[in-house]
Formats: sequence, structure tokens, C-alpha cells
Amino acid sequence: MAGERIAAIMPAAGSGARLGGERKQFRLLGDEPLLLRTARVFAAHPQIDLLVLTLPEADHAEIAALLEAAALDVPVLLAPGGATRQASVRSALRRLPPDVDMVLVHDAVRPFIRAEQISRVIEGVRTTGAAALAVELTDTLRRGDRARFGETIPRDGLYRMQTPQGARRAWYEEAHAAAERDGVDATDDVALVQRLGYPVAIVAGGPLNMKVTTPADWELAVALWPFWTSMET
Ligand code: CTP
Ligand code: MG
Repeated sequence: MAGERIAAIMPAAGSGARLGGERKQFRLLGDEPLLLRTARVFAAHPQIDLLVLTLPEADHAEIAALLEAAALDVPVLLAPGGATRQASVRSALRRLPPDVDMVLVHDAVRPFIRAEQISRVIEGVRTTGAAALAVELTDTLRRGDRARFGETIPRDGLYRMQTPQGARRAWYEEAHAAAERDGVDATDDVALVQRLGYPVAIVAGGPLNMKVTTPADWELAVALWPFWTSMET
């Protein structure tokens, strides 16, 4: 659509309890904080017009200065964080200017995202109304009680969800309002859209687009970074 305006929301207001230590979104990957690495990919994307970062208000002044020094290609708005990821995304939705038509939501702590993956999610939103990156499972799945294995779960047709997850702005706004009204809390964004009966297109993600969550993930991210920056996009 000509004149279509696309915003990327990056929730970054978590406390990083599973990783511990310094909050992961502020840790240096190479010589820049992780959230800035992620923001740079979206800001450089030719179809993204605006970023909205959700952060605790206590961090706003410091991050505003960091972003100003980084001189990204698009405007960046800051929104106050919420108690859950979903509340943080809702906070960012409220900051959107009126002319935004499409919204992508991407975890600030997934720095290994490629422009081409963002493009394919945008294409999915254009054709279907909502779309999300996901990876088909390849390992065998089995229940367990922490000591012994139970039944095997057929993995056919099962996906691991990633971000970005995108939708028409109106769908996200309706979905978040409905979730708040119904007291529903989800760990990803398109689940709220699906609840309303709207279709969500599956877009193939990749194994490198991991969410930095645990100490092992952080070690992997640090090891991957120099290779990532030298790889073709
Ligand atoms: N997030 C957020 N607001 C929250 C919780 C999470 O903006 N109240 C953000 C995180 O900063 C992160 C993304 O949502 O960029 C994914 O969340 P997750 O990996 O769970 O990060 P944390 O909540 O910080 O980590 P943990 O769950 O281990 O405490
Ligand atoms: Mg969390």
C-alpha cells in the first residue's frame, strides 16, 4: 500500500530474572548495548518508519542519550514499561502516532534478526492481516516428570514462535483491548489476535534468531556476534 506507515515496537522493560546479573537488554554485545544492536536492524530497514521502545521510566534519560548518539535513521519514541511483556507492548501501542497502519513487535533481546526476515513478516501482514516468524520443531518431543520420561508428543505441525510478530494496527489495538477486558495474558503477540478469530500467517524464522534468556544463551550470543557481523545479510 502506498503511503503505508509501519512502526516497530521493541519491549525492553523486563528484569532478566532467568539470566540474572546486569539486565540483558543493556549488556554490551561487542561495544554496544544489546537493545541498540536490535534497534539498529529495524531502524535501517527501508520499510520501517518509526521505533517505539518500552523501558522503565528510570532508564529513559540514559537511553534517550544513547539513541541520540547512535543517530538512527528513523525517529525513536520511548514508552513506560508495564508489569508484564503484554502490558509493555500495550504501553507502546498507546504511544503510536495516528498515521501508523502496521505494527511489528520484536523482543529487544533478539539481536540476531535479518532485514529479509522483517520484510517477509511485513509481506505476511499485507496479505493476511497478521504474521509471525516461527520455526518448525525438529527434535523429538516427550513429556517428563523431571526424573523419567513419559509419552512422546507427535511434533508434526508444531512450531516454536519467534519475533517479529506483526499485524494491522487496528487488529493489535482491538486484540490488546479485548485481552485486557478478558484478563488474558499471553507470552506472544499474535496469540491475542488469534483469540479474536483473525488469521495469522506463518513466516519461516531461523535458528539464529534466538531470544537471549538464560546464561547459556548469553554465552552463545557473545560467541556468535563476531561471526554474525561478518556474515552476508
Ligand atoms: N519485557 C518487557 N516488559 C516486561 C517483561 C518483559 O518489555 N514486563 C521484554 C523484555 O525486556 C524482553 C522481551 O520482553 O525484551 C522478552 O521477555 P523475556 O525474555 O521474558 O525478558 P525478561 O522478562 O527481562 O526476562 P525474565 O523473564 O527471565 O525475567
Ligand atoms: Mg519475562
